[in-house]
Amino acid sequence: MRLDKFLAEAGLGSRKEVKQLIKKGQISVNQQIERTDKKQIDPEKDIVDYQGEKLHYQEFYYYLLHKPAGVVSATEDTRDRTVMDLFSPADYRSDLFPVGRLDKDTEGLLLITNDGKLAHELLSPRKHVEKEYFAEVLGVMTAEDQDRFRSGEITLDGELTLPAELFIDEADKEMSKVRIILHEGKFHQVKRMVKACGKEVTYLKRIRMGKVALPEELAKGKYRSLTEDELRALKG
Ligand code: URA
Repeated sequence: MRLDKFLAEAGLGSRKEVKQLIKKGQISVNQQIERTDKKQIDPEKDIVDYQGEKLHYQEFYYYLLHKPAGVVSATEDTRDRTVMDLFSPADYRSDLFPVGRLDKDTEGLLLITNDGKLAHELLSPRKHVEKEYFAEVLGVMTAEDQDRFRSGEITLDGELTLPAELFIDEADKEMSKVRIILHEGKFHQVKRMVKACGKEVTYLKRIRMGKVALPEELAKGKYRSLTEDELRALKG
């Protein structure tokens, strides 16, 4: 990798700014001052210092966001605020993107990364990564609904759904509180599966993806980096 690219990726400044630092002799590679911005370095092996401090290069970034309602799961949008607008300028990078989508009115766990390979694996229906949701439903969800979810016989626009789990935490005359575990991610899937049972989702929150749960202490609209354990668990 070129030295100027490394320095920019390490957060030292824009490509133009880091070229200046190199020219001024403020960067050393393996203890030797380096004045060539095109110098090829190995980020894994070479030691790059700026003013005596070792610089670290990170290729991939992984964040866990508590998405609030009202923002869209996109990197850009002409009308609505996006999940990327919740990032501070210090953490924002133009290559970050959300792993899959939550509806604009859905809250909860959304992973944000620049690792396309991991995102693809987490979203692939073949990998069956569990997504768990909490939902409030208008109407009483029943044992028959649980059987329908489990059967894999609910069709959405003529397409069969994979067997899913429905746990009924509360159900009174009008409202139910349920948890739903899906192994795939079709468009509006939870809302449409509940609708197929003749009821309506009034509130939806994703509480888990694979082995990573939405942390209770993470406020709506906030994000943090994944821990090493969480990342390991996701990479499985
Ligand atoms: N299912 C839905 O209906 N909406 C979401 O945002 C996620 C899953």
